[in-house]
Amino acid sequence: MKKVKDHFEEEAEVFDELIMTLIPSYEYMVDSMVLALPFHQKERINILDLGCGTGNISLKLKERFPNARITCVDMAENMIKMAKYKLASYNDVEFIIADVRDLDFEDDFDAVVSSLALHHLQHPEKKPFYHRIKRFLKRGGVFYNADNILGSSPHLNQLYMDKWIEFMLKSHTQEEIDSVWLPKHREEDFPSPLMDHVHWLEEVGFEKVDVVWKSYMFGVYGGKK
Ligand SMILES: C[S@@+](CC[C@H](N)C(=O)[O-])C[C@H]1O[C@@H](n2cnc3c(N)ncnc32)[C@H](O)[C@@H]1O
Repeated sequence: MKKVKDHFEEEAEVFDELIMTLIPSYEYMVDSMVLALPFHQKERINILDLGCGTGNISLKLKERFPNARITCVDMAENMIKMAKYKLASYNDVEFIIADVRDLDFEDDFDAVVSSLALHHLQHPEKKPFYHRIKRFLKRGGVFYNADNILGSSPHLNQLYMDKWIEFMLKSHTQEEIDSVWLPKHREEDFPSPLMDHVHWLEEVGFEKVDVVWKSYMFGVYGGKK
């Protein structure tokens, strides 16, 4: 996890530009997660944003739910610095510098969301972490995750990888992809099959588990407590 932290400490200032060139349909993916939250736009809901980065998701959440109170958590101080700047006009957004695995809440949130962060957890950590997220939620609360996922067969995973590289080639050279982005992916990312996520969520007791959006190796999924 230290590698992941160092990566994002360094990348913070250029993250917003970079993410658009590395994640196909980033805006569309994140929008689908925000739209999945089943609340009236004027409700005073409490939301937890895990791995908030520079605050892109929380900004979209505040735009849709102006009365929401948001807790943004990230372990990279420089990412939090950018998020504080981006969300400076809101006085109901709180920032916590922490590893999400160290959080301890109980029945506090109407929604827990995360984007492109939880795939940095190791495989065995994920199901127990979903169990903890369920504890963070009030009854009836929802969890949605927008993330890098795997397919269910080697053929699909090769297709997803080819499609990802095809997208990155619009903005980056093959040499840069081979020397920077693919090694970072191999060393720092631990995506699990989408169907495993669905089963883990059901096994720890989430209801109405569903996949909201998916495109090759990226997906948005979640459920209700
Ligand atoms: C790719 S960025 C995504 C940022 C933001 N959610 C977005 O979609 O624009 C991943 C973020 O997750 C944070 N992160 C990854 N693992 C984390 C962990 N275990 N605890 C806290 N933050 C974590 C990183 O520091 C980084 O800021």
